Amino acid sequence: MSTSSTASTPGGRVGAVWAQDRSGVIGADGDVPWDVPEDLKHFSRTTRGHGVVMGRATWDSLPERWRPLPGRRCVVLTRDPSWSAPGAVTATTLAEALEAAAQPGEGADGEVWVIGGAQVYALALAEGALDVLAITEVDLDVEGDRAEQALAPEVDPAAWTAVRRDPDGGGWATAENGTRYRITWYERS
Ligand SMILES: NC(=O)c1ccc[n+]([C@@H]2O[C@H](COP(=O)([O-])OP(=O)(O)OC[C@H]3O[C@@H](n4cnc5c(N)ncnc54)[C@H](OP(=O)(O)O)[C@@H]3O)[C@@H](O)[C@H]2O)c1
Repeated sequence: MSTSSTASTPGGRVGAVWAQDRSGVIGADGDVPWDVPEDLKHFSRTTRGHGVVMGRATWDSLPERWRPLPGRRCVVLTRDPSWSAPGAVTATTLAEALEAAAQPGEGADGEVWVIGGAQVYALALAEGALDVLAITEVDLDVEGDRAEQALAPEVDPAAWTAVRRDPDGGGWATAENGTRYRITWYERS
């Protein structure tokens, strides 16, 4: 898992990657409520060639042409053991999902990234399954009722240390469409 040239971590560790607005919103109406292509490139660079674990709702939210996500072993967590979709591995517990995603082969190398959504990030964090977080902050406030939005899990600042920022120094990058964003990688303190 390469978080930077100086902060790479050995195999067998699990990362989570997400993007959130200023207040932690990651999704609304079953979708990601902004368009930052540069962040999608970061997502792709981070996860390609690895196993990814996602909730069934996140799988459903992917455009059909991106299912399964190319170059990644896609494991979908659902409580319905009969659920299946072409190109997806079904898992009914987080442990089973992480194990399936860590199997090498089919374009994956044993490294695992949890890719959402809110329920699955919260579960993975609560179960202590995560070693690395790659969090994109998008500099906007999504409007709407928070009770109906998908939210990022609370990240305890005492438990996680920022090991890399892009851009360096805590500033913002500006997407071509004018939206500001920045990415921070964290490891367990
Ligand atoms: N901004 C970002 O970086 C980002 C990334 C990913 C997703 N998102 C957004 O997040 C939203 C989706 O998040 P979400 O929280 O609604 O759904 P989710 O976490 O993607 O999936 C929830 C589903 O996962 C399964 N599940 C959850 N906990 C489980 C457990 N303990 N055991 C077995 N299965 C379990 C259940 O599937 P069944 O109902 O089939 O049993 C549940 O309905 C969308 O808006 C999406 O666009 C944003």
